[in-house]
Amino acid sequence: MSKLLSISYQQKPCYEIHIEEDFSMLPSLLCALGYGATKKACILTDDHVAPLYGEALQAQLQETFQLCTMHVIPAGEAHKNTDTVGKAYEHLICHGFDRKDVLIALGGGVVGDLCGFTAATYLRGIDFVQIPTTLLSQVDSSIGGKTGVDFMQYKNMVGAFYMPKLVYMNLSVLHTLPEEQYCSGMGEILKHGQIKDAAYFHQTAADWERILKRELPAVEQMIYGSCLIKGGVVARDPKEQGERALLNLGHTIGHAIEKLSDFRLFHGQCVSLGMVAAAYLSSRYGTYSSEQLRQLEEILARFHLPCRLQNPGFTPEEVLAATRMDKKMEAGRIKFILLKEPGEAYSTKELSDEQLLDGIRYLFC
Ligand code: GLY
Repeated sequence: MSKLLSISYQQKPCYEIHIEEDFSMLPSLLCALGYGATKKACILTDDHVAPLYGEALQAQLQETFQLCTMHVIPAGEAHKNTDTVGKAYEHLICHGFDRKDVLIALGGGVVGDLCGFTAATYLRGIDFVQIPTTLLSQVDSSIGGKTGVDFMQYKNMVGAFYMPKLVYMNLSVLHTLPEEQYCSGMGEILKHGQIKDAAYFHQTAADWERILKRELPAVEQMIYGSCLIKGGVVARDPKEQGERALLNLGHTIGHAIEKLSDFRLFHGQCVSLGMVAAAYLSSRYGTYSSEQLRQLEEILARFHLPCRLQNPGFTPEEVLAATRMDKKMEAGRIKFILLKEPGEAYSTKELSDEQLLDGIRYLFC
């Protein structure tokens, strides 16, 4: 079992995604990229992942590099900020890292985004490698070079497009992921199907039992399909000038809910809710049918993803107000993603506040 995808940037092959079942191929892939005994590596990870995989990986990579250090940050979105980046710079400076060395992001989306941003800015850019350890980061945040941190109350407000040199996935690590966090990744996976590939969406839905049991051949097929969809979009539109914005389906309302719930809900759960609101608006004001909406909700629920908010402790009006903090605004209007049908999304700036509120209220029914 193993799969390989090549991601292009500006029409040239840029980096590879390797999908494996263990870490055994990593040293030789790093050596093939030119890292080795004369270079240093720093594994940036968090305090959940470090004891599970960080220490063993560091021991393995000590044999590949002149020096392999590990910098551990506290887990969670609350630490995805410039202070944490500052501490990572300090670690790199204290250990004498220069531009020929490499940073390795070992963890979920927070670690990957923050490590990528640190790599993009330390010494005006050093190489970095992504080793995503959550389902969500494997299919979404590790691909496409979006790096960054939150700033003030704004999510991902400070960042850079900065491509990794390699994305390496060890699917066995998914076995230690808590159930809710695993299912959260399904939110982004089903979103990829809804925006680009109805056949992939239905195939994933049909495979739900094997996927929920984390049977690796089924999981590998699903992750590969999702990476193909996202990889294709980011290769065609790396800097989100057009098509890449479609990946934000469910994110405007989803980010607002994530913020208001104080990050108690997982990102993919919020994307699921945002996608339901977007699908409802697509059926109310567009061509998506109510049967397609019902089917979407049924499939999200199959993967234990939420479709409604029950006593969340905030109101639809507060969700609407929080969408104003989203960076997907153009000339004061939100760029909102809707669905023509499963597998086909489009972007619009034509939704009024009343219509958005209508979509948000649907989640409170
Ligand atoms: N997560 C959306 C994107 O990478 O564009």
